[in-house]
Amino acid sequence: MKSLVLLLCLAQLWGCQSAPHGTGQGFKEVACDDPEVERAALVAVNYLNQHLLHGFRHLLNRIDKVKVWFRRPLGVVYELELDTLETTCHVLDPTPLANCSVRQLTEHAVEGDCDFHVLEQDGQFTVLYSQCHSNPDSAEDVRKVCPTCGLLTPFNDTNVVHTVKAALDAFNAQNNGTYFKLVEISRAQNVPLPVSTLVEFVVAATDCTAQEVTDPAKCNLLAEKQYGFCKANLVHKLGGEEVSVACKVFQKQPQPASVNTAGPAPAVDQAAPAVDQAAPAVDQAAPAGPQADSPASLVVGPMVVAVPPGPPAHRTHHDLRHAFSPVASVESASGEVVGPPKVVQPGSTGAASPVVPLCPGRVRHFKI
Ligand SMILES: *[C@@H]1O[C@H](CO)[C@@H](O)[C@H](O)[C@H]1NC(C)=O
Ligand SMILES: *[C@@H]1O[C@H](CO)[C@@H](O)[C@H](O)[C@H]1NC(C)=O
Ligand SMILES: *[C@@H]1O[C@H](CO)[C@@H](O)[C@H](O)[C@H]1NC(C)=O
Repeated sequence: MKSLVLLLCLAQLWGCQSAPHGTGQGFKEVACDDPEVERAALVAVNYLNQHLLHGFRHLLNRIDKVKVWFRRPLGVVYELELDTLETTCHVLDPTPLANCSVRQLTEHAVEGDCDFHVLEQDGQFTVLYSQCHSNPDSAEDVRKVCPTCGLLTPFNDTNVVHTVKAALDAFNAQNNGTYFKLVEISRAQNVPLPVSTLVEFVVAATDCTAQEVTDPAKCNLLAEKQYGFCKANLVHKLGGEEVSVACKVFQKQPQPASVNTAGPAPAVDQAAPAVDQAAPAVDQAAPAGPQADSPASLVVGPMVVAVPPGPPAHRTHHDLRHAFSPVASVESASGEVVGPPKVVQPGSTGAASPVVPLCPGRVRHFKI
């Protein structure tokens, strides 16, 4: 992973060197904690959150590096390296980001690493390029702060699968209306003391009723998607087990007018076999997004949703590498790595940048 990051940096360095302006670097070094840089970084993190298909939203933790390129004829491009941290808010949860808190070290935190190019022109920010991946904290580090804390556990772990099933059954039994089915296991931990399993998962309302369902596979998600986010705990006891579950069911998400609801079975939700990076998302900036040619994606209010049914088998978290599906914007053509933008010589580099170590910037939460 590190080597990949390094490679990227090298590629970018190469880009700088070969910038067509013989006289100096073509970019300006600025402080990572410069307010303008922070604004660009927050735009980038918002963009990340708006294009997440699985798992949890992220918050900015630290701006690692920044270069500012002057773009011809106008504007500047911030080339950013950002550290983020996973929050407790699922991507489908409409809670404002400001109200989301980061996962603490004791909950087995997950860190994201992102590269962004953000254009600022006339006070408007546009993301030109983005790429992220994420990693959970190491088991040793978690053990250091908390020897009895549960570590992130693979989604296909027998206890996890069992706990999710028991919790979902319990939830559906309490709920004598719509039958909800599993769409994603988001997080799981086997806890040593008391011996128990913690899970967080996403469910969605189907066209079956809870009492009548015989074969969940035959239940289809509603055209107007209604998701819920559940947390459950299964305690293994001598005499058996005890499951508790709490679900937060979100508002229905209206079907975009352009999508044909008449056809039999909204196959999109059922068909996709365990593909874990969902079909390319639709840029929510595009008004109404009618020609969403990917059947597995759907524009819903402020959020893009494309949820394949099964969780990726052996993962312990939803890596941003797959969960984040950036949309190629007009400027970035195919979404491939863009080279450094066209640059003109910044007026004031060269002479004026002395010694101060400007980066990395401050840590907002904690460093993994
Ligand atoms: C978010 O936090 C603000 C301020 O603390 C509070 O007033 C508001 O109710 C919270 N919103 C949600 C959805 O939790
Ligand atoms: C669910 O069942 C309870 C008690 O059996 C009943 O009072 C309630 O009206 C039912 N709710 C729905 C939505 O059917
Ligand atoms: C989980 O998935 C991995 C990879 O597919 C597999 O090797 C492992 O045996 C699975 N574990 C269980 C408990 O099914």
